[in-house]
Amino acid sequence: MKQVQWIKAPVATGYAAVCFIKKFTVGEGLVHAVLKVSAMGIYVAEINGEKIGRQVLVPGWTNYDYRVQYATEDITAQMGRENTLSISVGPGWAVGRMGYHGDRQLYSNEVHAVCELTLTYADGRKENLTTGEDWEVFTHEVTFSDIYDGETVDKTHEPKLLGNAVCVGEKFPLILQVGEDITEQERFAPVELIITPKGERVIDFGQNLAGYVELKIKGKRGDRVVLSFAEVLDKDGNFYKENYRSAKNIVTYICSGNEDVFKPRFSFQGYRYIRLDEYPFDTVELDGFRSVAVSSALTRTGRFACGDAKINQLYHNIIWGQKSNYLDIPTDCPQRDERLGWTGDTQVFCRTAALNFDVRKFFEKWLGDLRLEQKSDGAVLGICPEKFKGNYKTRTSAGWGDVATIVPWTLYEIYGDKKILEENFELMRRWVEYIRHAGGEEYLWLGGYHYGDWLAMDAGGDTYVGATSNDLIGTAFYAHSVDLLVRAGEVLGRDMSEYRSLHQKVKDAFRAYFMENGMPKEELPLTEVVQAGKSSSDFLRKGITQTSLVLILHFGLCLEEERAALGKKLCELIRDFGNRMSTGFLGTPYLLHVLSSIGRQDLAYELFFAEGNPSWLYSVNHGATTMWEHWNSLKEDGSFWSTDMNSFNHYSYGAVGDWIYGEICGIKIAEGGAGYRKLLLTPHPIRRLSFAKCALDTVQGRVESHWYYAGDRVNFEFTVPEGSEATICLPDGKRETVTGGSYYYSVKALD
Ligand code: BGC
Repeated sequence: MKQVQWIKAPVATGYAAVCFIKKFTVGEGLVHAVLKVSAMGIYVAEINGEKIGRQVLVPGWTNYDYRVQYATEDITAQMGRENTLSISVGPGWAVGRMGYHGDRQLYSNEVHAVCELTLTYADGRKENLTTGEDWEVFTHEVTFSDIYDGETVDKTHEPKLLGNAVCVGEKFPLILQVGEDITEQERFAPVELIITPKGERVIDFGQNLAGYVELKIKGKRGDRVVLSFAEVLDKDGNFYKENYRSAKNIVTYICSGNEDVFKPRFSFQGYRYIRLDEYPFDTVELDGFRSVAVSSALTRTGRFACGDAKINQLYHNIIWGQKSNYLDIPTDCPQRDERLGWTGDTQVFCRTAALNFDVRKFFEKWLGDLRLEQKSDGAVLGICPEKFKGNYKTRTSAGWGDVATIVPWTLYEIYGDKKILEENFELMRRWVEYIRHAGGEEYLWLGGYHYGDWLAMDAGGDTYVGATSNDLIGTAFYAHSVDLLVRAGEVLGRDMSEYRSLHQKVKDAFRAYFMENGMPKEELPLTEVVQAGKSSSDFLRKGITQTSLVLILHFGLCLEEERAALGKKLCELIRDFGNRMSTGFLGTPYLLHVLSSIGRQDLAYELFFAEGNPSWLYSVNHGATTMWEHWNSLKEDGSFWSTDMNSFNHYSYGAVGDWIYGEICGIKIAEGGAGYRKLLLTPHPIRRLSFAKCALDTVQGRVESHWYYAGDRVNFEFTVPEGSEATICLPDGKRETVTGGSYYYSVKALD
């Protein structure tokens, strides 16, 4: 869309949506009508009163300073002779409140619209209709909208002409949509109407999700329905929304007097329950309510089921954590006053995400923003898209910025497409250079600002930061990022000798500084670290923690001969912690992988099946339908972890999904086998599950692994796609390399 003018309303419209309208007549012989459309804010385009396109919450969220996506829609079938084209725009991400500082208008202080309609006639003639001063601007029935605070839809509203649109030129940079479509997905009918002890009328939809509530109702003109949202009820069974912090999440529907169908169009909520704060009837017409899940329209690629209902529920919760948080960008959570593209959460979960769904297009868009936002010194921030004020150096952290290397490499491994590495090689390399110059030491990452092993349990329980030394974490991720950069460069056929030697030097420096006699040092020097609201004394500086050992083993930071003792120490720490893990955001995703890799699948299973706090099944036992931010977001005594940092839809700990596919069912990519061209099938049957079954739709075709107990035997069935080579390793030691086809084995059960 070139040389097309953006338009805005002639007066300030605050939190209300506005409607830009153009009426026009079409000549004889129209054969084709294509609309290109976008907005600053969130838009809904309509032709002759009919919605255009299947997407919602468009144009999604990019860093609008660099690019605003426009959609292309074929509207030929919806055209008449006399036509009314309208673009309604609400504040959305661009103009509304966004970010944990409560900032508003990050990208613009007013909503804007832009479009170009190209009409093609039978004789080849083309006509272009674009936004301009001849468009009229009206008030809208959505009199309030904000992503955090909710929406008011007033069907009694009489649109008022505000005047003609004001042209502002080519104010915002446009690009053709690169991301996945955002669409309405599953629809949930109410499961139950609950009257709480406080007498509140609460509807349970049975599934925590991101989306909105659609309501069909025939009330009297001016009747109001006011909805509040919640993820959980409190221990007394009352409605609980304190964990939304400053996000009000209130949706108000005002009836016209006829039958109305309401839903928000410029905001979404994260919830499982709604409370009817106002409702015009004594009896609740439950059938009028639907909870509509909204997310990026990703194709499902991974499936898993086993003979244990709790594990199946955990898997369900992982999938729904992703559905709720892959709404155009990968977010931390979909409900409170964040919903931000936290890079740490993104890197932690991306492997599982890329197995569950085809996320290539989704990440192509988001990585584009990450590249655009990378600072000139290579810094990658804690959030993307990000537009906060102040010193960005206090907003970049080990384990968060490393998203720059981890996501491209992971996508390459899973989808086998070198283009991903080509596109992101400079992002990766410049991030490594940032770390190289971040601290005083070239081969260590000391000091600076870090989130650490966020939410780990080893720094005295309910704190935000774990006990592991941030310097150790920083340098470990430094080594890992250089390693991934080297691998990427090698795939691309580049000369990586400099970075190969850097990798070795960082590893050597790591061992020299953090370890002695093959073990991390117990206590490490504390370098000054400043984190908002915390003094450095809040930080512990332990060298020997579950997380430090996991990182050393997983990133290969020790000598081969040191692995056994480090592994043994890790198992001891788990025992000392009451057979529990103490790892946080950074250690947990690798923990079970490490245990499997050191031959302690038994202990991995023990942790995986644990039900106390902390464990994956704790939340399942407490009725979770998505992953929780904390292992014990809801505590044993029924109280909440906190009000200020307690999401019930945070996918990070769902990163165990990768281990479920990779170790329980045993489908792994072999070294050098990107895209599952070469794979390992190393299932770990366990009688408790009785069977486990997994299918992955890879770029090579479907890979399947299925095992099931039959008396004293375990039977295995595998499918290997044509063109792939798989090495099958069975528990009895049998090992065989096969090509495309179906394979069946039966071995004596060892348990
Ligand atoms: C988010 C996290 C994020 C963290 C940074 C939180 O507020 O919800 O998931 O990674 O901040 O430490």
